[in-house]
Amino acid sequence: MCVSLSKILGTYGYTVISVQNANKAIDSLQSEPVDLIISDIRMPGMSGLDFLKELHAIKKDVPVIMISGYATVDTVVTAMKYGALNFYEKPIKIPKLLSEIAHIAEAKARHPVLSEKEIITQNPVILEKLRMIEKAAPTDAPVLITGESGTGKELFASALHGKSRRSGGPFVKINCASIPESLLENELFGHEKGAYTDAHCAYRGKFEQAEGGTIFLDEIAEMSIPMQAKLLRVLQEKEFERLGSDHSVKADVRIIAATNKDVAMMAKSGTFRQDLFYRLSVIHLDIPPLRERRDDIMLLTNHFLFLFNTQYGKTVAGLSTEVKEIFLLHSWLGNIRELKNCIERAVIFCEGSLVTTDDLPSQYKSVETPRQDDLQGIYEAVTREVILEALEKSGGNRQRASELLNITRRTLYNKMQKLGME
Ligand SMILES: Nc1ncnc2c1ncn2[C@@H]1O[C@H](COP(=O)(O)OP(=O)(O)OP(=O)(O)O)[C@@H](O)[C@H]1O
Ligand SMILES: [Mg+2]
Repeated sequence: MCVSLSKILGTYGYTVISVQNANKAIDSLQSEPVDLIISDIRMPGMSGLDFLKELHAIKKDVPVIMISGYATVDTVVTAMKYGALNFYEKPIKIPKLLSEIAHIAEAKARHPVLSEKEIITQNPVILEKLRMIEKAAPTDAPVLITGESGTGKELFASALHGKSRRSGGPFVKINCASIPESLLENELFGHEKGAYTDAHCAYRGKFEQAEGGTIFLDEIAEMSIPMQAKLLRVLQEKEFERLGSDHSVKADVRIIAATNKDVAMMAKSGTFRQDLFYRLSVIHLDIPPLRERRDDIMLLTNHFLFLFNTQYGKTVAGLSTEVKEIFLLHSWLGNIRELKNCIERAVIFCEGSLVTTDDLPSQYKSVETPRQDDLQGIYEAVTREVILEALEKSGGNRQRASELLNITRRTLYNKMQKLGME
């Protein structure tokens, strides 16, 4: 079985490493990265199921297809639980296996990264922000991140921390809106034992917890004016006091603040301290909403399909043409979070290889009528998708792609250049 499968896969252009037992497989995994494992269940030594558990334990995030001549419901369920992507009974239907492997390879090729922390984009505006992050990261300057809900403010903040020299230190997050005003000071600065009636022991606040690292002040616009004054002092003097103490504590902390409110406007109208706004926004990252960067919709979609395929052991390869159109025209008021949730649900519900409208909740079942000022972005995103599809079909051959699109090679070239696809 091992030898003949290796031969067949080899003729389809895959590089195959074959080993005769699970221990050898684990050894070889330490030295060679692989994209897919195909494993039997009954083997000499370690069984296929124990092998799966072991992979899980050593955090090898590789898709696994199990094959067996003796599949019981129990083994199948256990295999799935330990992350097997699929289960094939002997005799194996080779064409089906090959098409599944092709899907996995394709998904992999489109997604060289596997991490949830990765910032995925091809949009020029966001790429510019990423360059800002690179420059800002090594400094200790405060950073203000603004953008609608779900645009990735927290993701950007954690990327900034990760690229800074503080990355070995803690990243401490506090949501200024979810904590009652009376408790926020205590949460941020901590207290001494006996500072108030219930303070039975001393408490290190978030600023002390973040020592040597970064503090992320989320929803900063919700902070009361008196608290803003206290925060300003930390920014100016780099020190603060615990409640009930007159001993100052040095704050070796980088401050990143975020909000979905227009704080610049609030600073002008007096509902946010102007001096604090200026201090916080030494570096200001404003993240545009997804509907203003539609060229990211398909890229993010494929990224999330990959993440959730891995998480749920599915092999959803893409979107139906109808769903593609709906996605490209949708207004995505919840931004990337909305897209991510939508894809997670679709991957769970999808039975075939493409997401269809049946897999989506009702608000995604039909094409939205876009707002007039969105049209340019939509046109560009749709054009890009159509060109990519034609290039894919023609195997990258531009002459053939332009014939498929019924335009001249020159027009195709011009369009690609305009869309930055060169
Ligand atoms: N460019 C991106 N690439 C990949 N994932 C992204 C990207 N932007 C956002 N996400 C994902 O979208 C989700 C929402 O992002 P995040 O929580 O950072 O948004 P937010 O702006 O802080 O939202 P809120 O204002 O509601 O707190 C997260 O799961 C995040 O990982
Ligand atoms: Mg957030």
